[in-house]
Amino acid sequence: MKLMTTLILLCAATAASANPFPDGNAQTGQKLFEQYDCSRCHAKMMGGDGSAIFTRFDRKRNSPDGLIEQIGICSGNVNAHFASQETQDLAAYLNIFYKFK
Ligand code: HEC
Repeated sequence: MKLMTTLILLCAATAASANPFPDGNAQTGQKLFEQYDCSRCHAKMMGGDGSAIFTRFDRKRNSPDGLIEQIGICSGNVNAHFASQETQDLAAYLNIFYKFK
């Protein structure tokens, strides 16, 4: 019975959260993105401001978890150790491009 209740609550919570990064602040994420000059390599690769790397048809990351993972990988590129809150903020910002629900 306890399990059923948990399952029902879990389903309700999932259905209610359309935003995969509810704890992230996109504005803070954008600031971090600019502060660490995250687009410098992406811009070299893709041209323009580099944001096309997030929407290219063969983009690598196609899930919220994948996006989080990539932020972890790329944080090494800028010698950053993002706290999980900062990672959530960056993900919330980048989700403007990814549009994960
Ligand atoms: C030293 C260069 C470099 C820097 C600086 C860099 N990146 Fe990247 N980034 C890459 C490369 C190279 C790829 C493409 C990886 C691939 O195609 O497998 C990439 C891909 C990505 C992707 C995935 C795009 C996709 O295909 O879905 C994300 C998200 C991303 N970077 C976020 C960041 C963030 C956030 C920062 C700043 C903290 C950052 N990157 C800084 C080199 C860099």
